[in-house]
Amino acid sequence: MRKPLIAGNWKMNGSAELVEAFGRAFAEASLPAPVEVVILPPFPYLDAARQAFADTPVTLGAQTLNPLHSGARTGEVSGQMLREFGVDYVLAGHSERRQLYRESDEEVYDRVIAAFSVGIRPILCVGETLEERDAGHTEDVVLRQVGYVMARLDPEQRRRMTIAYEPVWAIGTGRTATPQQAQQVMAAIRRYQAGFDRELAGELRLLYGGSMNASNAKELLAQEDIDGGLIGGASLKVDDFIAICQSAG
Ligand code: PGA
Repeated sequence: MRKPLIAGNWKMNGSAELVEAFGRAFAEASLPAPVEVVILPPFPYLDAARQAFADTPVTLGAQTLNPLHSGARTGEVSGQMLREFGVDYVLAGHSERRQLYRESDEEVYDRVIAAFSVGIRPILCVGETLEERDAGHTEDVVLRQVGYVMARLDPEQRRRMTIAYEPVWAIGTGRTATPQQAQQVMAAIRRYQAGFDRELAGELRLLYGGSMNASNAKELLAQEDIDGGLIGGASLKVDDFIAICQSAG
């Protein structure tokens, strides 16, 4: 049985007030027990978020990490440091980082391994651009991104991996993939995983991301291969985010 996961990726947004508002809302809301909820704030808010969410079931994630444990990398943050702040999850390969910071599949893999090495669970983000979709290359692109990382992991790491399918054209655009479009690609990711291990494929947790909101979440989450969501814009609105969490239960 795959446990649903709803992850709120705040990106470079938020404030101390927003952290507190979420802390209060999570303390009062009844979050469905089987759903795991994670908030990924910018680094400076991690400590405040840890305190604000302490008496709630919500856990913490980070948006990236540097593959090294320490050293001369001005401006970077390591997995070891994140672990000290109680971070349980980290994104690797978000399309904004692949595009704006030119992160390659190899660098994404290095981040995944670094996360595992300190006991943080990586969420590998994959997805095609509109041009790639229009050219009919969606599955090739997505399975290349998935395969580069998954093929290099050992079975235990594969078991602990979460994959987020985020079509680049749907991120922050208000244009969501239809439930059928998302399901088709996510079923392909699961089939690919079955090539390694059939049982493991059944356990692999797959999230959809890309303009998921309180109105479309239920239909997306009802798809057979969608086990949760990676939410950007709607994760900054307390009521909307809690509504999404509730629709996953
Ligand atoms: P969005 O972002 O929900 O604003 O489209 C999703 C993401 O980038 O993780």
